[in-house]
Amino acid sequence: MNRTVEAANGVDIPQLGFGLYKIKDGEAFERTVEYAIRIGYRHFDTAKIYGNEAALGRVIQKSGIAREEFFITSKAWTTDLGYHATKKAFEQTCRKLNVTYLDMYMIHFAGPHYVNAWKAMEELYDEGRIKVIGVANFEIRHLEHLKKNSRISPMVNQIETHPEFPQHELHDYMLRHRILHEAWGPLGQGNKALLEHPELAAIALRHQKSVAQVILRWHLQRGIMVIPKSTNPQRIKENIEIFDFELNEEDVEHIRRLDTGKRYSLSPNGFMINPIYINLMKLFIR
Ligand code: A2P
Repeated sequence: MNRTVEAANGVDIPQLGFGLYKIKDGEAFERTVEYAIRIGYRHFDTAKIYGNEAALGRVIQKSGIAREEFFITSKAWTTDLGYHATKKAFEQTCRKLNVTYLDMYMIHFAGPHYVNAWKAMEELYDEGRIKVIGVANFEIRHLEHLKKNSRISPMVNQIETHPEFPQHELHDYMLRHRILHEAWGPLGQGNKALLEHPELAAIALRHQKSVAQVILRWHLQRGIMVIPKSTNPQRIKENIEIFDFELNEEDVEHIRRLDTGKRYSLSPNGFMINPIYINLMKLFIR
């Protein structure tokens, strides 16, 4: 069970996906993704830097389900940005995933040469190799810069978003520019204080749902795509059971008040200019 949101070019994207960040290639990966596919997940979000593209490709192939049934996203890492470098990285990613096209390909961070990387992605899009082209961790200034220096606008921006950091300003900007908002860390990356927040617990109790389900539902009702990740079967199932209830205005207002403007992760700011930061990020992201 899922529902879709429409990208600016008319492509339908399943609003709920499965995030593969930090799920390492190996037996646990296979078990996790096989289970996710079995219970209905079709949208998977990986990246070159996660190191699990090949493993995802293997599990998808083993499922016996047609390639076209899946929505697969991957991302070009910061050191792969540039016209030729991005084309090369894209081909490597396709080889690892054992696919001829990607449903979505993104620039992972607005690192140096992202405008040239975007040119490569526009061409791959024209050739039908990428169905939806997007970016991740872009701020308004990056999106504005790209708008002035590109032919096709990004269709999606994947950014940290959760109740304490709802990204209102960027969200409104993206709405005006027909850029879909995709949340990474939609559950606050498992932040205990968030998942045990009394306000959220009270809403969850009223709907006979868990706090995580309430948070995911809040994202959906904002029109945001979510890619929660879990290696726990019970929670993987819980995270897909979010289409059978609705938060009311009062619930939404309560959640709105949880906004503290606090990121739980590193800010993408400074990425364009600071190579030390880029290398540091490599350590953070496996
Ligand atoms: P686990 O793998 O043990 O389930 P995010 O998607 O925001 O990055 O959050 C991922 C974190 O949240 C992981 O630590 C995951 O742990 C945890 N998580 C995922 N789904 C749920 C859920 N339904 N309830 C509680 N924690 C969850």
